[in-house]
Amino acid sequence: MKVCIIGASGKLGKYMVQHALDRGYEVVAVCREQSVGKLDEFKGQITVLPGDTDDRGVIERAVRGCGGVLTVLVPWGMKHYASGTAQAVLDFAEPDARLIFSCGWHITRDGKDVYTTQHRLMVKVFGAVAKLFRLVDLDDQIEATRRIFESDKEWTVVRGSDLEEGESQGLPVWSRHVGDPILESNLTRRIDFALFMVDALTRDDLVQEAPAIVGRQSPSALAHGQGEQRAA
Ligand SMILES: NC(=O)c1ccc[n+]([C@@H]2O[C@H](COP(=O)([O-])OP(=O)(O)OC[C@H]3O[C@@H](n4cnc5c(N)ncnc54)[C@H](OP(=O)(O)O)[C@@H]3O)[C@@H](O)[C@H]2O)c1
Repeated sequence: MKVCIIGASGKLGKYMVQHALDRGYEVVAVCREQSVGKLDEFKGQITVLPGDTDDRGVIERAVRGCGGVLTVLVPWGMKHYASGTAQAVLDFAEPDARLIFSCGWHITRDGKDVYTTQHRLMVKVFGAVAKLFRLVDLDDQIEATRRIFESDKEWTVVRGSDLEEGESQGLPVWSRHVGDPILESNLTRRIDFALFMVDALTRDDLVQEAPAIVGRQSPSALAHGQGEQRAA
């Protein structure tokens, strides 16, 4: 399968590139011009298209012929970066391509997620301060996912918990709603977040789902079994 990874030079993106190569996929990577050097370790193994991830011309070329598109949705700046990226992917991806997007637990699909007071406060304060300094626009990431949820494409929105570095613990477990007991530990290895994204490309049970994930070795995952995870 040919897959496009949008936002490939970041931490999550590079892990996704490696997982995709490990599965024998052909990889087309999109990253900002100034970040191309961050992909040097993959030289000769992937095709890199430099450009902002909301550049519609770049995305149109990058996703052509791809059976899967993995997109790192980031709310940087005040120019609708996340929604521009999502819209370009929705508009130009092949009609039957699997579209996998990353975001955090703060995104809710049906409003049934239950957040701790600490989480709500953190998102509110971070969002307000970041917006004040015009660095990050969380509302635009919400708009991006709203458009994805409304799309009839074969999308999956993977909602990551807090992240840590470290060796893989295997495929994270997931549940439909933040607040479900299996997710209580709120911690996933970044390498495994990437693994879940790449694995989702071939998972029919995740089509038009917004799984919230947590590390499979985390205390809450161990205490509550496999949750709604249906992977092998
Ligand atoms: N960090 C967390 O704790 C956390 C928790 C849950 C979910 N997530 C989700 O995980 C995904 C990856 O996030 P991450 O925090 O781990 O970071 P990351 O993988 O390092 O990705 C950051 C991305 O943002 C790009 N970027 C950085 N500065 C930018 C700017 N000024 N303008 C445009 N793009 C810029 C980077 O591109 P360059 O390589 O070009 O700089 C890179 O593609 C996101 O979807 C996030 O919502 C993160």
